[in-house]
Amino acid sequence: MEDKNMLMIPGPTPVPEKVLLAMAKHPIGHRSGDFSKVIAELTENLKWLHQTQNDVLMLNVSGTGAMEAGIINFLNPGDRVLVGNNGKFGDRWAKMSKAFGLAVEEITAEWGKPLDPEAFREKLEGDRDKQIKAVIITHSETSTGVLNDLETINKHVKNHGESLIIVDAVTSLGATNVPIDAWGLDVVGSGSQKGYMIPPGLGFVSVSARAWKAYENAKIPRFYLDLKKYKKATDENSSPFTPPVNLMYGLQASLKMMKNEGLESIFARHKRLTQATRGAVKAMGLPLFASDEAASNAITAVAPLGVEAEKIRSVMKKRYDIALAGGQDHLSGKIFRMGHLGFVSDRDILAAISALEATLVELGHDGSLGAGVAAAARVFAQS
Ligand SMILES: Cc1ncc(COP(=O)(O)O)c(C=O)c1O
Repeated sequence: MEDKNMLMIPGPTPVPEKVLLAMAKHPIGHRSGDFSKVIAELTENLKWLHQTQNDVLMLNVSGTGAMEAGIINFLNPGDRVLVGNNGKFGDRWAKMSKAFGLAVEEITAEWGKPLDPEAFREKLEGDRDKQIKAVIITHSETSTGVLNDLETINKHVKNHGESLIIVDAVTSLGATNVPIDAWGLDVVGSGSQKGYMIPPGLGFVSVSARAWKAYENAKIPRFYLDLKKYKKATDENSSPFTPPVNLMYGLQASLKMMKNEGLESIFARHKRLTQATRGAVKAMGLPLFASDEAASNAITAVAPLGVEAEKIRSVMKKRYDIALAGGQDHLSGKIFRMGHLGFVSDRDILAAISALEATLVELGHDGSLGAGVAAAARVFAQS
């Protein structure tokens, strides 16, 4: 059916009507006084969302651009860095770090398993002459639905004393608690098409005072992504280059919605959506790809043994207008992923789970019809 699309992928995520309407107007000059007020409001509300007094900078990039800025501004070619790699995005940061000449040591885990914080502790404690300049971690590994234990890994980084921690919070910010100041996270990157509930096009980087100190000696070449340009402009309620003005109108509206809901409620909602989805998948007899202990609040990956993941996605899309994500790289065709990030409600999960059950019936697997919806309903009744 036309215009009935339901996005249950981990980004772009659904956009509220209030946000769409906020964007549907003529842009104004980005050097005008009126737009300065918009930037001032956004900066204040972004600090609220990031739970920080650090700088939170807006860049016209996707999440990858935010992470690139977060890496190249604070390091030097040849610097030793530890990169956690247990999925597509950890792998991307390892490749990116190598591309910029960093001496990368990867701490790996099988896709679907969380990174072991002990492996970080050992490396960091063994680094007596403080050669490790940064630890780069993907908090919520979207490719597998795994949440890495950022809090514990960060404690080991703090005990090391010299290394920065650079975090990909692309699918954890706005879904999971990422208390930047309380944990002392140095650099945190994210992107607009995720928990922010707006379309793609804006990247965000928060930068600590410690990271700014490292910036002073960092020599990796940069120009458009030179974060000092963004800091200077942001301090003057301006932007170094032409920003996506209309997207920022949308961000104004979405941040207001988020403030009205409250951070605790947002995190609780994402947890509830995750538990309902996981409970339903288990009740339907489908294997979950990540364990309960390491489940991302943004996305649930399912390995549908005996039923082809791509067939499920195809029926869900064609018959029910629900878009699910597929597996990436070697997991292509082996898993499907259901996003529950951003503007997603209990009702959306009930609709998606019942459509999934109907899809399995259509594909000849109807052993547990109704069990998934019942399990999700039980979670919603109790929380
Ligand atoms: C955890 C994570 N990091 C980074 C990215 C890359 O973001 P983008 O595609 O916006 O560059 C994504 C995108 O899905 C992601 O989920």
